Amino acid sequence: MLIFILFSVLDGYAQSCDFAETSLLPDDIDTSVASPDSSRPYALIAGGSKGIGYALAEALAKRKYNLILIARHLDSLQAAKNKLESAYSIHVEILVHDLSREESATEIAKWCIDRNIHLKVLANVAGHGGPRDYLLTSLDTLRYMVRLNVESMMALSLTLLPLLEKNAPSYILNVASMAGFAPIPIKNLYSATKSAVIFFSYSLRYQLKKKHISVSCLCPGPVFTKPEVRRETEKRFGWFGKKMAVSPKRVGEIAVKKTLKGRLIIVPGTLSKVISVLLRALPRRTVTSLYAKAGT
Ligand SMILES: NC(=O)c1ccc[n+]([C@@H]2O[C@H](COP(=O)([O-])OP(=O)(O)OC[C@H]3O[C@@H](n4cnc5c(N)ncnc54)[C@H](OP(=O)(O)O)[C@@H]3O)[C@@H](O)[C@H]2O)c1
Repeated sequence: MLIFILFSVLDGYAQSCDFAETSLLPDDIDTSVASPDSSRPYALIAGGSKGIGYALAEALAKRKYNLILIARHLDSLQAAKNKLESAYSIHVEILVHDLSREESATEIAKWCIDRNIHLKVLANVAGHGGPRDYLLTSLDTLRYMVRLNVESMMALSLTLLPLLEKNAPSYILNVASMAGFAPIPIKNLYSATKSAVIFFSYSLRYQLKKKHISVSCLCPGPVFTKPEVRRETEKRFGWFGKKMAVSPKRVGEIAVKKTLKGRLIIVPGTLSKVISVLLRALPRRTVTSLYAKAGT
């Protein structure tokens, strides 16, 4: 049973955990539609056109943050902008960038600094995964994963720091994964990059405390953001996978609520929380060996 539970935390595999957090919208959120106000604070979401990034965007839009959404494809960015602007009467800027490019962070920061953007929130969301990686994936793909999952998060956090400091109190939300809590042999590099995101966030939180910038790290279990995620989850884990997963919308709402409250590690869903405690409490060698047995 333990093997089964641990294996289930390989993300991308399950949905719908309606246990703990029932009321996610605080009463003081004004969801009424008014005219957009560009002087309101901005949140920048790197990877904000789809999936968890879009859900974060929507949760911030409800709280009347203006948004800067970044992704590679203009069509989905434009669709997200149209939807959010008409539903929440906020201002949405969209920027097309491949965040795995070394120059992206500097270009994005320059764009924001030139416009003196009132930046209050930075969410580093875009990441690359897959059911298997190291030994079975090309070196180019592995390098892409490191650049997107780790380097881009590190570079945006640093290049946007002057704006976040100027507009403090402010927030950085890094998206890791439950896969970052322990080594997973068949997803060796993915779990290693997500563990880097978690460690980086822990330390950065202390480094930025005096600057009044709060750092949070979202570590979700499975979230059905794409049909292949749902298929893989259901194929491998059946009912347990379904129980474990949390919907993107719910993940976005929980993550924004807890980020604004200054929480460090955010694990949406009661079942995922329990498993994340186990993953961190058990000896690392044991967990890795259980993952290895379950994954072959
Ligand atoms: N889904 C899960 O089960 C799950 C579980 C735990 C953790 N996570 C983590 O959560 C994050 C989001 O996952 P998701 O499932 O929501 O992904 P998704 O649905 O595929 O959305 C990813 C977003 O990032 C953008 N993006 C991807 N690659 C990019 C690049 N190179 N440059 C710029 N933008 C890029 C995408 O737009 P474009 O394609 O247009 O670029 C899209 O807006 C990832 O870091 C993932 O590791 C996911």
